[in-house]
Amino acid sequence: MTAPPLLEVADLRLHFPLGGGFAFGRRGTVKAVDGVDFRLEAGRTLGLVGESGCGKSTLGRAVVGLETPTSGSVTLGGRNLAARSRAERDADRRRMQMIFQDPFSSLNPRMTVGQTLAEPIRLHGLREGPGVAARVRELLGLVDLPEGARDRYPHEFSGGQRQRIGIARALACEPELVVCDEPVSALDVSIQAQIMRLLKRLQDELGVAYLFIGHELGVVRQVSDEIAVMYLGQIVERGAGRTLFREARHAYTRALISAAPIPDPRLERLRRRIILKGDPPSPIDPPSGCPFAGRCPVAIPRCHAERPPLERFGPDHAVACWRAGETPELLPILAQGAPARDGTSG
Ligand SMILES: Nc1ncnc2c1ncn2[C@@H]1O[C@H](COP(=O)(O)OP(=O)(O)OP(=O)(O)O)[C@@H](O)[C@H]1O
Ligand SMILES: [Mg+2]
Repeated sequence: MTAPPLLEVADLRLHFPLGGGFAFGRRGTVKAVDGVDFRLEAGRTLGLVGESGCGKSTLGRAVVGLETPTSGSVTLGGRNLAARSRAERDADRRRMQMIFQDPFSSLNPRMTVGQTLAEPIRLHGLREGPGVAARVRELLGLVDLPEGARDRYPHEFSGGQRQRIGIARALACEPELVVCDEPVSALDVSIQAQIMRLLKRLQDELGVAYLFIGHELGVVRQVSDEIAVMYLGQIVERGAGRTLFREARHAYTRALISAAPIPDPRLERLRRRIILKGDPPSPIDPPSGCPFAGRCPVAIPRCHAERPPLERFGPDHAVACWRAGETPELLPILAQGAPARDGTSG
């Protein structure tokens, strides 16, 4: 028997009742996550991209146990998290940590960095006595913060340094999985690159797995072994980064790729933006067919009626699109974008 993956998410759904729950009757449901499946192996990175409101954070929070799924399961090392005892759940919490876009809001302003890092070490009984201070020193070194940072407060640091503190605190628990929820979105581009390099180095050194959430495909690609594209609570395409950039079959993925700048200036000049018409539909009572059908340039009547399953198109590629098999013929339609040179984004 092969070992179970580190993380397995199966048909996960997170629906929020609108208007204060059942006491107010049925006013609709926000289907933030609506039937998501994926696996993540130890030490690997799955990138998760999609527009604002498509359910990325809700999915990340459900993975680490901060949200209770409406249905479906989250399995860590072969054990379903929902079936765990309270003591086991504490142990699971230690194994999975989360870092956020704005570390400031998740750091206690009245605690020094040293206290912030020592707290989870003591809480989970990972070190005792002088071992705690030694571990705090080690953690500061891991994220390239000076030892003197220990006695200072979060407000004394820059955004990039605060993100390093957030990362050190997540690592204090010696987790196997870290959910990174847009950890560089609020930072300057030069600082972004430093934090991305740090995350990669930490993965090499510690073997930690990442679920890396972002809305820019170009950023997510830098750290991900595999990328899942999310739209309205569903994964519409999934593949190794290289496969996805070369062979994307879903029109939404193609639009995202067309919006990602290419580092090579020669290729960048040839890049064409695919501008999607309309806004994403609301996750309140979403359409029953393909979630993207209303904006898709190649939708057929079936797309509006039936939801396409995520189907394999190769060892490391899966697509949820009724027309995915016809992509070569559809390419000319999908490629009718506008030149991307004006530098606008949207
Ligand atoms: N507790 C909640 N109650 C009701 N609706 C919620 C709740 N949390 C999230 N939502 C809704 O679920 C949808 C998905 O939200 P989520 O924050 O997961 O999106 P996201 O992809 O992380 O967006 P962003 O890129 O802006 O961070 C949104 O429509 C949001 O308004
Ligand atoms: Mg979010």
